[in-house]
Formats: sequence, structure tokens, C-alpha cells
Amino acid sequence: MAGSEKTSVLLEETRLFHPPKDLVENSNVMQYMKKKGFKTEKELRTWASANLEEFWGEMGKEYATWFKPFDKVLDWKPPYSKWFLGGLINATYNCVDRHAKGAKKDKVAYIGVGEPLGDVRKFTYGDLYKEVNKLANGLKSLGIKKGDIVSIYMPMIPELPIAMLACAKLGIIHSVTFSGFSSKAYGDRVIDGGSRISITVDGFWRRGKVVPLKESADEALLTAPSVEKQIVYKRCGNEVKWNPRDIWWHDLVKDQSTECDCEQLDPEHRLYLLYTSGTTGKPKGIEHAQGGTVVGCPQTLHWVFDLKDNDVWWCTADIGWVTGHSYIVYAPLSLGVTSIMYEGSPDFPDFGRWWSIIQEHKVNVLYTAPTAIRMFMKAGAQWSDKYDLKSLRLLGTVGEPINPEAWIWYRTNIGRGELQIMDTWWQTETGTFINSPLPTTPLKPGSCTMPLPGYNTEVWDESGHKVPTGEGGNVVIMTPYPTMLRDFYKDPARYMKTYWEHYWKVAPGVYLAGDKGREDADGYFWIQGRIDDVLKVAGHRLGNSEVESAAVSHPKVAEAAVIGKPDEVKGEVIIVFAILRSGVEPSEDLKKELIAHIRKTLGPVGMPEAVYFVNDVPKTRSGKIMRRVIRAKAMGQPVGDISTLMNPEAVDGIPKIV
Ligand code: WTA
Repeated sequence: MAGSEKTSVLLEETRLFHPPKDLVENSNVMQYMKKKGFKTEKELRTWASANLEEFWGEMGKEYATWFKPFDKVLDWKPPYSKWFLGGLINATYNCVDRHAKGAKKDKVAYIGVGEPLGDVRKFTYGDLYKEVNKLANGLKSLGIKKGDIVSIYMPMIPELPIAMLACAKLGIIHSVTFSGFSSKAYGDRVIDGGSRISITVDGFWRRGKVVPLKESADEALLTAPSVEKQIVYKRCGNEVKWNPRDIWWHDLVKDQSTECDCEQLDPEHRLYLLYTSGTTGKPKGIEHAQGGTVVGCPQTLHWVFDLKDNDVWWCTADIGWVTGHSYIVYAPLSLGVTSIMYEGSPDFPDFGRWWSIIQEHKVNVLYTAPTAIRMFMKAGAQWSDKYDLKSLRLLGTVGEPINPEAWIWYRTNIGRGELQIMDTWWQTETGTFINSPLPTTPLKPGSCTMPLPGYNTEVWDESGHKVPTGEGGNVVIMTPYPTMLRDFYKDPARYMKTYWEHYWKVAPGVYLAGDKGREDADGYFWIQGRIDDVLKVAGHRLGNSEVESAAVSHPKVAEAAVIGKPDEVKGEVIIVFAILRSGVEPSEDLKKELIAHIRKTLGPVGMPEAVYFVNDVPKTRSGKIMRRVIRAKAMGQPVGDISTLMNPEAVDGIPKIV
């Protein structure tokens, strides 16, 4: 795990970066503090986290518009929470309709920057309103209704949020698959959701080439008989094979009305499913609710990134991940701000692309990932130096622990040595930032600081006690919050097992986040990486077991063990130890074939960096692959006590790879 090596570096980190006075004074959170009479940030954090219902009740009224006001803030029966009971709401109404019908009608919601140079499309809130309504009416005409699931497989173009918002408007649950995932990944998600509709594009631009996404979607649907219709948005005009179930987006919406009523929904009505990797088995569909999302998302964005009405916000994540769901779609639209959406690769046509976008569109707040920062750091500051980045006033990062070195590079080269960096720690499951600085918080490079107001996190040992200050343990979330996951789709038993069972006997309702971390004497958290077998490759979350299944699906492979190897740029890269079937000869060609096979099965994000053939992999007596032991051996570190393994001799056969 990436954490252990970083611990020593983090332990030495003593630099403190105080926020400039004007940032503090003008910050949104400071206005709230003044209103409530809190003198310090600590007072606010302590009060809100101790008075959850009062705090969230207030936020529920402040950030969302309700068709019918809620009469109870929280119903918490661990491990299930319900929020804003008795209210009626619609997420799309909050993101689009209320702005389109008000002063923000002509304000730009999305600046859609296509990868080809000069391809820029702007959508105002009024435009979004019409486009969302036409598509929603189109969906209705196909017989889709409230509670159905629609699968979406689209790139980073404004039609992706339009599709999501059209679903949400009707109370349809969207299930988005990242366009960098393979057809198999899409197929699995379509099947799990039993979707009747798939929405995709003909193709999209990536590094100057068209990626023919419809081909992958079609391949996926071969295994998914539930799909009756596939809506295809024409993005690139590349040639596509046409099937009887296909319908062009432009044909579907052509004669549709630009008006469409919102479903008035119970706030617990599911907004979306998003699949994520855990320790075991196939990815699980995380369920998120309508009401909580349009309260927690805008509130956290408003406070942490301090967005003002005229700001241009750029979250560089892909909407295929939770960061995009929350902070490209539901949060910025609820707040009615302008966002950038960029379709392509950060290095196309060169490493100056992002900085040229910031210069051209005068981006004020940039939120990205450590893997991107490390990539730019490697490419060199000469790329960003060429552009005027003066419009920037705040920076952010998410996805994995950021090494202090990358943090300092980011602040120095992108932030003119002045800008504060909001290191936000959270997960697909949490829906919003959990631990994060506010603009008022002094920063320590590499620390995601403290639980935000309205959230409670601690570090616990295995027996369920808070560990002493400075010592490592499991990061736990102590209390519910409006955006928390509601369940695993069709698998409540695994939901219980994954997050709640661990501490159930000592403290029912304490959530095991799956991360290791520690809290220092000032109450700052330092996240050290995952406890479980989950990889973070260039910020993308993948289960080791998923990659292993992909390897084993090759006919010449009998068994495989996968580890993450620390990598300067990507955080981790994937290393496969494969056991071949008897009679199969190992060869360099077979390694290449296997890498290509895994890439095809999982998509580009799952491509291994290297494959090693071994005769056996170490396992526990119950047959669980001991990835920790394999990793230690491969990295040339002590393997610890292996006497209880089923086959300790297998450890000798694992090569040292560094
Ligand atoms: C890791 C991404 C350290 C962590 C929003 C978490 C982080 C997992 C940070 C969730 C951060 C995310 N510092 N680690 N600021 N942010 N992580 O579901 O291990 O893709 O559990 O959600 O990313 O990844 P996910």
C-alpha cells in the first residue's frame, strides 16, 4: 500500500500555511460564522458536528428548494439513515429549473471544451432547461418511468449531465459508467441494474483520435437483453453500425416540448447508482438519494471552495466517478455557478492544454487529483509558465494522499506560491467531502485536516478504541450525514459486512471507511492509504480482485495475484503474478498478450504495467491470496511471519521487482 512509505515523510511535515486575511474575511464560511456568532473555525466545527440535526436542518433549507418542506431532519436506524422526512424535492429542479426561471436564465452553466482546438460550446441555464426537458420528454415517449434505471456510457461532453438531469427530473435512477471502462464493465453494470435504456455516443475525442464508444456499448448490450432502446448522441460523426434498438438522440428530441414537469419526490428517492470497487467480488452499486445530494453537495462546495456567483469552477475529474457526479453536476449546478467541462486528454496537443483553458476562460478555482499534479510536475513548469493563471484564487485536490512535494509544487507553480490548497478526503460512498480544510484553515501539506462541520471522523484501533494522538489506525465516520450511501443495490448483506460489521459489537453505526490514517496533536488527519485490497491507479479505484478475474479470464491463465507498485506519477501501477495452466509455455509474447487481454477486459484504466509468471502464490489456509506478503517480497521488504500460510514456500518464488 502506498501509505507505509509515505508515513515517515508525512511525520516530518511541520510547515504551516496560513490563509491570507482577505480570503478569510470574505469567505462564505466566515459570513456564516459571523451570522451565528462563532469566533473561531473550531467553534463552528465543534458545534455543527455535535448538533447534527439542527445544523443539517438549517443547511437543508438554505441550499435546496423544496416543493414541500421537510418536517423531520433525520431518522437514523443504523446502518440506514433517512434525511429530510416529509419533504418533497427534485434534484433537477434544484440544479436547473429554479435558475432557468430566475435571474440566472442567461448565465453560462457549462463551458464545454472539446478536445479539438477551438471546439467550445456554452450552455446557459436556460439552454440546459430546454435540452433536459426535451430529452426527458423523449425518455417518457419510450415508456420509461419513475423508479426505472437508465444506463449511461458517455464521455465528458455537456450531454452527459443533460442525460443525468433528464433522468433525475423524472425520478429515473441513472447509472453512469466511466467511458474509459471496457464494454464488459459497462455490460456488467447494465445487467446488474436491469436497465431498459442505454445512452451513449458514436465516439469521442481522445489524444486527437476518435474513440468509437458505440462499438463498445453495442458489444456490452450483446450480454444485456433487458435493454430495449439505445439512445445515441452524435458527437464525432464517425461511422457506426446501426441496430434496430438504436435511436439517434437528435431524432428522439426533435419534436419534443421544451417544457417538462418535475416529479415531486420523496427525498430518499434514489438519484443514482454508482459502481465502485471493494475488497471482494464484482463492483457494487452504491445508492445515493435525491434530497441529501442537493443539500450536502452544494453546501460543501460553497464552504470549502468558497465559490462566488461570478466564479468559473473547474473540477477536472470525469463524471464517470463520484467526484464528477457531485462536483461537476449536482453541486455547481445547485449553486448556479459556471463550470468547465473538458472532453480530452491533459497532454493534447501538449502539456499546456489545461493552462490554456484556465487562461482563456479565466478559471477561478481548480480542483484536480495528485496523479495529474505529479504528471505536470514531471513534465515541468515551463508548460504552465507560458500561460496567465492570475484568475486562479483557490486550488484543490482529491483521490489519494498527496505527497508534500507535489503539494508544494502545485502551490508554487500553479498557485503563484500564494494559493491555499483544499485537500478533500472522501469516497464514492460518502458523496461529499468529509475531511477538508475551509478557506479559514491553516494548511499542512499532505493533510486533509479535520472533519467538516456536520461530520465526525476518528481513528480507531481494531478493538474499537480511539488510538492515541499520532498513532495510526482505521479511519471511521462516527455519525450519519445527508449524502451518505444508502445501500448496495440488491445486496444489503454486503453493505452491512463492508462498512458496519467491523465495529458493530462495540459501536453500531460506526462506519469503517477502509482507509488507514492518523490524527496529530492539532487534530489534523493524515490519510495513509487503503486497508483493503483496493488499487488507486491514476486516481481510479480498482479492486485487485477485479484485475485478477480479468487475468484469469484468459484461457492460458490458471490463477493470478495482483498488487499495486508505487509509481511516481500514477500513485500505483498494476503488477500481475500469473500462474499458467499446465502445459502452457511462458514467453515474452504471452506476457504481452495477457496485458492486452486485461486491457481489453477492463479498459485502459486496468492495463497492467508488467506480468510475471510464477508457479504458485502464497495463500492463507482458507485460500485467500496474501497480496500483502506478495507485495512485500516483490518490493524487497520483510515479509513478516508467514508460518501460518497454507504454502509458505510460494513466497520464495515471487521475484523481487524493484
Ligand atoms: C482515497 C474519490 C487521501 C481514499 C472521491 C478513499 C484520499 C478513496 C483522498 C476513495 C485524499 C480520496 N487524501 N486519500 N484527499 N481522497 N482518497 O471512491 O483511499 O474513488 O477511501 O472517491 O480515495 O476513492 P473514490
